[in-house]
Amino acid sequence: MATSSLNGRKILLGVSGSIAAYKSVYLARLLTRQGAEVRVLMTPTATGFISPITFSSLTRFPVPHEIMAEGQWNNHVDMGLWADLYLVAPATANTLSGMASGRCDNLLLASYLSARCPVMVAPAMDLDMWDHPATRRNLRILEGDGVAIVPVGHGELASGLSGPGRMAEPEDIVRHLERHFQRGAGMEGRRILVTAGPTREALDPVRFLSNHSTGKMGVAIAEELASRGAEVHLVLGPGSVRPSDPRIAVFDVETALEMLSAAEEVFSFCDVAIFTAAVADYRPAEPAVHKIPKGDMPAQLKLERNPDIAATLGERRRPGQVLVGFALETDDGVDRAREKMVRKHLDLVVLNTLADEGAGFGTDTNKVTFIGRDNKTQVFGLKPKAEVAADLADELARLLNPQH
Ligand code: PMT
Repeated sequence: MATSSLNGRKILLGVSGSIAAYKSVYLARLLTRQGAEVRVLMTPTATGFISPITFSSLTRFPVPHEIMAEGQWNNHVDMGLWADLYLVAPATANTLSGMASGRCDNLLLASYLSARCPVMVAPAMDLDMWDHPATRRNLRILEGDGVAIVPVGHGELASGLSGPGRMAEPEDIVRHLERHFQRGAGMEGRRILVTAGPTREALDPVRFLSNHSTGKMGVAIAEELASRGAEVHLVLGPGSVRPSDPRIAVFDVETALEMLSAAEEVFSFCDVAIFTAAVADYRPAEPAVHKIPKGDMPAQLKLERNPDIAATLGERRRPGQVLVGFALETDDGVDRAREKMVRKHLDLVVLNTLADEGAGFGTDTNKVTFIGRDNKTQVFGLKPKAEVAADLADELARLLNPQH
C-alpha cells in the first residue's frame, strides 16, 4: 500500500462545542491510522459533547481544555509550534467568529493565534447560522488570513432541519489534509499554460461578441498548480477574475487571435497546456473603426471563423506534453467531448454541462467528468472550482508520472 502523505505529520486537532464533535473521534482515529501523530485540545463547551478521555485514549496524549487546569498552565505556544498543521474540527460559528476577530479566551483560540503552521477549519452549524452574513463575513476574513476551509456537507442537521452546515465527513477531511501535504509534490519545475475566460470580438469600438465565461475555472486551476510548485503561464480573457498568487505569469488578451498568439509564445516550452477558455468561434469579418449608428446596423453580421487554439497547438504537440481541454455542453455530451479529444489531439477532456445546476459559467462550483484517452471516465459531484482544480492537478500528476 502506498504511504499516505499524512505519515509522520504532526496534526493538532482543535475540537469546539458542536454535536459534530462525535465525528472528530473517528477523524482522530483515521489520522492516526494514516501514520499521523495527533494531539487534541478542546474548548470547555466541547467537553460537554465528548469526554477528553475518549480522545486521549485514542491519541495517547493528554487532552487539555482549559488554559489553567489543576494549578498547571497549558502552554498554547508549545502546541502551536509543535504542529505541522492545526485542524479545527468541528469549528462552530462561535469559534470561527473568535478566530476571525482574534479573540483569545480559550485554549483553542489562544493556540490559533500562536500557531505558525497552516490552519484548516471544518465548520459545523445549523443552516441559518451557516447562511448568516456574519458567518459568511468571518469565513471571508479567515480565508484572507490564509485559513483553508473544508466545505460543509448538505443534509439532515441536529436541529431536525435539512440543508448546508453539517461538518464534512471525516474521510473528506482526511482527503483535504492529504492534498494539503501532497501540494508541491509532482509539479515543481513543471511549466504549464492555462487559457481562461472569454474572448471579445469587436463589432465596432463599443460592441462585441462574447460569452458568459468569467475565468473562475481557469484561475482556480492556475492557482492550484502554482501552489503545487508549477511555473504557470495564464492567458486570460477580458473582464475575468484575476489570480491572487503573484507567482502566476498573466498575459491579458482580448480576442481569440490575441489569445492564440500569447499561447503560442509559451506552448513550445510547456509540459502541460490546459484550455479552459471559452473562445468565441467567430469574429465580425469587418469590424467598424467608428461606432456604427443604430440605424446603420446591418441586419445580418458577416462573420469569420476564429482559429481553434487547442486544435492548432494540439497539432504541434511534442512527445511528453500533456494537453487538457474542457468541453462545455448543454446536455450529457460524453460523445461530443470524446470527438473533441480526438480532433484537438488532447489527452484528457473535462466535461461540464449547463444542464447541471451550479456547473459551468460564472458559478463558484462545477460538476465535471474527466474523459481520458483510454476512454476511462471519472464522474465527480458538484464541488467548489478550487476542488475541481485540485482533482485535475492530481490527475495531471498521474498523467505526467504514469509509472507511479
Ligand atoms: O470561466 P468560468 O465562468 O469559470 O466558466 C468555466 C467554463 C464553463 C468556461 C469552463 O469550465 C469551460 O467549459 N471551458 C470551455 C468552454 C468551451 O469553449 O468549450 P468548447 O466545447 O466550445 O471547446 C472545447 C475546447 O476547445 C475547450 O478546451 C476550449 O478552450 C477549446 N477551444 C474552443 C474553441 C476555440 N476557438 N479555441 C479553443 O481553444
